[in-house]
Amino acid sequence: MAPAPCPLVLEEPARVGLLAAELVANRMRAARPLRLLLPTGRTPEGMYAALRERRREGKLPAQDTEVFQLDEYAGLGAGDERSYAAYLRRELGGLGLRAIHELDGTAADLDAEARRHQRVFDEAPIDLAVLGLGRDGHVAFDEPGSPADSGMRCVTLAAATREDAAAGFGGLADVPEQALTVGLRTLREARALILLVTGETKAPALRAMLQGPAGPASPASLLCDHPRLSIICDRAAASLLPPSPAWSSDRALVVLGHREPGRSHEHRVSAESHARLLQAGRLAERRPARLAVLTGWTSTGGLSEAEQMLTWWNEPDTPALLEVAGRDTAENASRTLPLLEAVGDIRSVTVVTSGWHLRAPYFFAPYRRHGLRVSFRPALRHALAPRYVAQELRALRAAPGQRRAAWA
Ligand code: GLP
Repeated sequence: MAPAPCPLVLEEPARVGLLAAELVANRMRAARPLRLLLPTGRTPEGMYAALRERRREGKLPAQDTEVFQLDEYAGLGAGDERSYAAYLRRELGGLGLRAIHELDGTAADLDAEARRHQRVFDEAPIDLAVLGLGRDGHVAFDEPGSPADSGMRCVTLAAATREDAAAGFGGLADVPEQALTVGLRTLREARALILLVTGETKAPALRAMLQGPAGPASPASLLCDHPRLSIICDRAAASLLPPSPAWSSDRALVVLGHREPGRSHEHRVSAESHARLLQAGRLAERRPARLAVLTGWTSTGGLSEAEQMLTWWNEPDTPALLEVAGRDTAENASRTLPLLEAVGDIRSVTVVTSGWHLRAPYFFAPYRRHGLRVSFRPALRHALAPRYVAQELRALRAAPGQRRAAWA
């Protein structure tokens, strides 16, 4: 089995929310329509605040995004402010989403309500699920003991979960005993997952997820073999993990995905991208990097080059994030920058691309205006392949216009 993914550890919980918002915004720019599963709880509050801020700035293209509710307390409807449906309305109202698909905890037949919600996941997989982590290792309301192949259903809440919710209900006695939840199968089938974890109280659950054996005692651990899971946590949540020099590195790797329309196979990483990935892995092993950003967009709806690279990324100490909205190298540069700024404390960026990619330094040059050092490390394959060099030379003339548009 593949090793558990390496978490990206940030200084402050605020950074976790900010980065999550930038990743969601990046997805919104990449895919139309977009199907999102979004979490409730305290952890994602910063993410929602940052998304609303982006919306006010006119930088959140949310009109083709549909959000699906993850879980709900039995007995609570959207009219009850303690319900998750009400939470999502509060946090997401004003973002300009196409729709929020809610769960009705007051439905007379909760099993039928679960089946109804499951049908919308069976129609098409979720593009991105953002999740929080419970103190007992739950995700959504998939409590310890939940099977990896479970679908949407009604569950009994664990004691620790009800205790954690007690303050919001004015005491333990009023916390519902049952809830509706998306199953682990739906999460495992999502195209990409982001798990957000903040605070010391979550440190044991994060350790159990990443260091313990994968199994039903830690429901979150059953997501560890997802090929595109990114874990973003703060220092407090990571306090029980073996510390890594990557946590304080000020260096980021940016790996540019490469596809040739008509030539590159769908759902298979291209040979150029693969060579770049190997080079990035070598660099990460030689000197710690805080993270690697893997970039690449898809027009076909199949897995983007970035997503395919993440499937392959296997560096035990270097977490990877996706940038899937950039339609060309100029946009890969401009769309990656907000991710790096949200991470914080990044001073130098190493761009990994092919030796023939002559325009790359030009497209990343604006990073210097943002106080970043930029260097380039070519992949070893096809260093100066004549066909690619010829393409680059033909594309030179359009480069200034592309760069201007990407940074506008
Ligand atoms: C609740 C929710 C989860 C959430 C978790 C953590 O039980 N069902 O979806 O991720 O608790 O909540 P918080 O972020 O408030 O710690």
